[in-house]
Amino acid sequence: MYSFSIPTDDPEAFYAELAEAADALTAGEPDTIANMANVSALIWQAMPRLNWAGFYRMIDGELVLGPFQGKAACIRIAIGKGVCGTAAADATTQLVDDVHAFPGHIACDADSRSELVVPIMCDGAVIAVLDLDSPEPGRFAPADARGIEQVVARIAARLA
Ligand code: SME
Repeated sequence: MYSFSIPTDDPEAFYAELAEAADALTAGEPDTIANMANVSALIWQAMPRLNWAGFYRMIDGELVLGPFQGKAACIRIAIGKGVCGTAAADATTQLVDDVHAFPGHIACDADSRSELVVPIMCDGAVIAVLDLDSPEPGRFAPADARGIEQVVARIAARLA
């Protein structure tokens, strides 16, 4: 059994502990899907005010839905389309305070109001993105973006 209880009051401490937990969950496990499944569950459990948390994998030049928590979602996203496709195309984190104001946003869950998408890099290439959605406008701060970047950078090789 895995049991994580991570206090959320201080973002720096929160993301340091989240990275530790993600590292512990994936250590020694070579299966990408198993690792993405457990990391999406960990984030879902640890981070308040989310309505979707999961991965899209880069497969044959497009993003394909991977392990996630939340409502069933769109399966394939072209590179450059939506928030996820933009993160993958530019290899940069996308922090969107109001998804309705993001040109081309793909609405998978009508409840989503803000979104954070972090590209996952391995050997200089985007191999996946981690997508977090919230029903709360402006849910994600720059500290959340930096924190999630640290988490995925730490375990990127285990997600490839
Ligand atoms: N909103 C995303 C699509 C994925 S869902 O939110 C799970 C986008 O615009 O890329």
